[in-house]
Amino acid sequence: MNQRIVVGVSGGIAAFKSAALVSRLVQRGLDVSVVLTDSAQQFVGAATFAALCNRAPVTSAFDPRYPLGPHIELAIDCKLFIVAPATAHVIAGCALGLADCLLSTLYLNMECPVVFAPAMSTPMWDKPAVIRNVEQLTADGVRMIGPESGWLACRRVGAGRMSEPEAILAACEPFLV
Ligand SMILES: Cc1cc2nc3c(=O)[nH]c(=O)nc-3n(C[C@H](O)[C@H](O)[C@H](O)COP(=O)(O)O)c2cc1C
Repeated sequence: MNQRIVVGVSGGIAAFKSAALVSRLVQRGLDVSVVLTDSAQQFVGAATFAALCNRAPVTSAFDPRYPLGPHIELAIDCKLFIVAPATAHVIAGCALGLADCLLSTLYLNMECPVVFAPAMSTPMWDKPAVIRNVEQLTADGVRMIGPESGWLACRRVGAGRMSEPEAILAACEPFLV
């Protein structure tokens, strides 16, 4: 049976790279469900992920496909939860234990390993509040992949660029054996 994993996509420009990540995970033989935040849908359309996964992504906490709630059903038998990109907002919500959107509520339900691939501008990544939240999540057991330094969409070179899909996939391999 295929291993079930969930990819959460939050609203950063790096969401365009999440489609490639999901494609690679599907090619790896994984059964991938995608959760999109409202903001993520401003960057990449649900149709892209539906085609890549052969399954429509979950965009609502009240999706009728999941009578118990997708925050419950997607966590059942889930092997790995990847959040890529992880915005400053999602990092903050998960660090605080908020359950005010599907992605953060699902995080609270997950009993499997969790990997975050943060992506944001350098000033955001360097902000003490973000540093605190990343430290909190790391202490809570979340594995952080990146970010890398490089060209950013804000036309600066610096820290905050989401790791490439290949690097995220490689970092996830130990959780997929
Ligand atoms: C063009 C654009 C690019 C953005 N890129 C990022 C980003 O890379 N990282 C980030 O944390 N927020 C970014 N934001 C801000 C988030 O979209 C915003 O904080 C949003 O509330 C995040 O919602 P979500 O975390 O629920 O997806 C960007 C906003 C815009 C308009």
